[in-house]
Amino acid sequence: MTAGDPANITRVPVELGDRSYEVWVGPGVRHRLAEVVPGEANRVAVVTQEAVAGAGITVNPGIEHRVFIVDDGERAKTMGTVEELCRQFARWGLTRGDAVVAVGGGAVTDLAGFAAAVYHRGVRVVYVSTTLLGQIDASVGGKTGVNLPEGKNLVGAFWQPSAVLCDTEVLDTLPPEEMRSGLGEMAKYHFITDTDLDSLALPERVARCVAIKAAVVAADERESGRRAVLNYGHTLAHALEAQGGYDLRHGEAVAVGLIYAAELAHRCGRIDAYRVAEHRRVVGGYNLPTGLPAEADPDALVRLFSRDKKAVAGVTFMLDGPNGIQPVTGLDTDLMLQTLEALR
Ligand code: GLY
Repeated sequence: MTAGDPANITRVPVELGDRSYEVWVGPGVRHRLAEVVPGEANRVAVVTQEAVAGAGITVNPGIEHRVFIVDDGERAKTMGTVEELCRQFARWGLTRGDAVVAVGGGAVTDLAGFAAAVYHRGVRVVYVSTTLLGQIDASVGGKTGVNLPEGKNLVGAFWQPSAVLCDTEVLDTLPPEEMRSGLGEMAKYHFITDTDLDSLALPERVARCVAIKAAVVAADERESGRRAVLNYGHTLAHALEAQGGYDLRHGEAVAVGLIYAAELAHRCGRIDAYRVAEHRRVVGGYNLPTGLPAEADPDALVRLFSRDKKAVAGVTFMLDGPNGIQPVTGLDTDLMLQTLEALR
């Protein structure tokens, strides 16, 4: 298609003082990489996966570069891979003045971002995000990290990228299940602000979701308050993912989590039936699940709620209400259970 025609590109600022950067969204925008590689860099380490390169998604940073391949999917997100990447960077002679470019979905940007955060105590990183989920969530906001056998994303750092390119052209090549995963996060953005996403085409919708996330991150980079709103729908989603075995993608788990959060908020008197219906309309509109998997065990899910790594002071739900989405603690166990049963 295009080679990143400026007329089709939306540039979304992420305002973080001297760590501010832009997210460029649009078809073919990956071809503009050379324009956003930090000017001082002499070399670029491109970190990607076979599947990404195999799908024809390659980049040219415009300066000397070498490609480093990591395993596909979450399997790559280990401390071992970070060590291996950093050793390869060192053997190649990457310096603190150079840069890393991560090309892929959230697993690649999380991993390469973390390697960039720790290599030589921090080198610049640029993300070329190639999945819907990565574009509207992982690539924006500076969370980087890897998994431990004990849990997901348990080791990481806040390390903001220098620039992010969200190429909406490559979304056409995504497998349907990967697209659905992104759509679950997209559904979440309908409720974080009162933005009308329904009327927008996909590239504009991506840009608007990025702008919503950018505003949240600018207000609370380190998640000491407002940023937790991005976890809307995620308490049940994380429990379903931790319980495992349901063949649900992350975004599908978030979709069910959004409906659950709406039903809980309604039962707590925070929102009316119309607002619950709005949640069902948005989630259903993306063809995402609105009910619990038949074999889900509500008691086990409620136990898992308090093991969510974000549950610092007991079970905290982000719930919609008259003042928007707010953290709510101290929910009655029976209420949580009954609301789960009602989602069957
Ligand atoms: N994915 C949630 C956040 O970036 O805070």
